Amino acid sequence: MLRIAVLASGRGSNLQAMIDAIAVGTLDARITGVFSDNAAAPALRRAVDAGLPARALDPKSFAKRSAFDAALFGQVEASQPDVIVCAGYMRLISAPAVRERRGRLLNIHPSLLPAFKGLHTHAQALAAGVHEHGASVHFITPDLDGGPVIAQARVPVLAGDQADSLSRRVLAREHLLLLATLRLFAAGRVALLGEAIHVDGRPLATPLQLAANNDFP
Ligand code: GRF
Repeated sequence: MLRIAVLASGRGSNLQAMIDAIAVGTLDARITGVFSDNAAAPALRRAVDAGLPARALDPKSFAKRSAFDAALFGQVEASQPDVIVCAGYMRLISAPAVRERRGRLLNIHPSLLPAFKGLHTHAQALAAGVHEHGASVHFITPDLDGGPVIAQARVPVLAGDQADSLSRRVLAREHLLLLATLRLFAAGRVALLGEAIHVDGRPLATPLQLAANNDFP
């Protein structure tokens, strides 16, 4: 069974999607703990409500980012996860902490990377006038939002879309994308070998695309 640690700073809807999928048996996994840099994160409340270990660490009590990360990942690794999912985790992770966990650290980002890195991705997409937007699950590398992309979900931009309406539609697909990607990990089908993602032992030329049936073709 795939052991997942979750890092979250805010709302926690992706966390909730994982909790719910595990509960109904559509994701064969166990959440080893939920870890946050924000004691007030609703994600922590969701964890507690689901009976999961929930921990918050205050970055302000650490002199340096690296010291915060050492403490945070000390707790994360103590829960013995196979993978660590950043699900709305808003802090930059120091490069050494990222490198030590190469191939085990995942992020979900609300855009079709490499387009629209950083914050306010829905507003960025609308400002750019694209017809298609979406979400990506990628391996984290020291290059922010720049690590190899495993899978994406595409969402059409509709006439009259505002950042709010677009973000709601992307979020719904994003949850399904994250779950489908984690099912691949649970089945042992994904690995990062050197710079290349391998799925079923073959290098992945372009990110997997979530199909209408919420799975990969
Ligand atoms: C999501 O849009 C995710 O892609 C981004 O932060 C948001 C987190 O939402 N990284 P939630 O906390 O999971 O509801």
